[in-house]
Amino acid sequence: MKTMLVTGGCGFIGANFVRYLLKESDFTGRIVNLDKLTYAGNPENLADIQTDYKDRYRFIKADICDGTRMAEIFEKYEIDSVCHFAAESHVDRSIVKPDEFIRTNIVGTFNLLECARTYRNRMILFHHISTDEVYGSLGREGHFKETTPYKPNSPYSASKAASDHLVRAYYKTYGLPMTISNCSNNYGPYQFPEKLIPLIILNALEGKSLPVYGDGRNVRDWLYVKDHCIAIWTIMKNGTPGETYNVGGNSELENIKLVEMICDILDEKNPLSDGGSRRDLITFVKDRPGHDLRYAVDFSKLSKNLNWRPKQSLETGIRDTIQWYMDNRKWVERVKSGEYQTWIKSHYR
Ligand code: NAD
Ligand code: DAU
Repeated sequence: MKTMLVTGGCGFIGANFVRYLLKESDFTGRIVNLDKLTYAGNPENLADIQTDYKDRYRFIKADICDGTRMAEIFEKYEIDSVCHFAAESHVDRSIVKPDEFIRTNIVGTFNLLECARTYRNRMILFHHISTDEVYGSLGREGHFKETTPYKPNSPYSASKAASDHLVRAYYKTYGLPMTISNCSNNYGPYQFPEKLIPLIILNALEGKSLPVYGDGRNVRDWLYVKDHCIAIWTIMKNGTPGETYNVGGNSELENIKLVEMICDILDEKNPLSDGGSRRDLITFVKDRPGHDLRYAVDFSKLSKNLNWRPKQSLETGIRDTIQWYMDNRKWVERVKSGEYQTWIKSHYR
């Protein structure tokens, strides 16, 4: 792979992936990072990469829904592989306003597939990043397998399911070499503080209330973002074209237990002046409509065929993540105040 197009590389997982690929992996090619810079895209996540990897890294502000622009980029940079992260990713936002989810996640993916089809003779791989949420919700037992039927419950997961189907169809119909990964909940550095873990860490540090939806008994299967990045690169290098791979953390936890864990670690690292417990900040709030009860991923295909398994435990991963948010107050302040958006507006049209 000489020139990989990474879409959505200024977001949470995309930025971690670009960092991993250039700084730690055996990838030797160039990266073109294409990102629209929505509220979730922050070029400051890759500021050092921009400086340190001038020869191998280029950033382009663009919208994957602009088909003409996408075709120009594929041609100009002779793209030979794609790792497609760009998406609207937050379930709550999809419930309030689904429009952008349909546009970016479905139409945007379609545009990229059309470009890849045009240049399919040089296309080594189109890797599509997807979610375990396409499978719907589990009861208290069982795991999602690659063969589990799709049953998405939110506009977000339905739009991701549609994009997965399109990617697979381009393999079956046009022979486009592709792989898909369906991953569970990620956490770690650079996650936008609308998602549960960074929201709880930052609210707890500021002494604000900690909102837990419903009774807090919903279960997620947490995966440290770097382990996800390693899984993606493993699939891109050694996966079989046409195949789907589940990626999971083997770390199921009820939301309430996770929030309590964060409170306890913070109380230990940064005790409250009155010696109280941050658990007192927990507030049960109105549930998310259609809230999936439980996700748990069977990733035995990935571990058996490609020898991947998560390295980071939930306890150490959460500790490292808390420490990252405590050490990176400037990043946090610029994100929370919206200053990063002001910077984007002054630097890009
Ligand atoms: P994110 O919201 O942090 O980042 C999304 C990025 O895509 C942002 O940089 C944004 O600017 C960009 N983007 C949005 N619309 C765009 C458009 N029209 N054109 C170009 N760029 C656009 O998301 P994330 O959490 O990093 O998720 C990345 C991918 O991984 C998504 O496809 C998501 O569905 C998938 N995923 C996420 C998780 C998770 O736990 N966060 C788990 C499994 C799969
Ligand atoms: O499973 C993979 C998915 O994980 C990804 O595809 C999505 O892009 C990603 O956003 C994530 O979806 P979730 O909806 O599971 O993540 P979120 O962080 O929004 O919520 C995690 C759990 O915490 C969920 O059960 C809802 C609950 N929650 C969330 C928020 C924001 C709360 O209880 N309180 C909150 O304030």
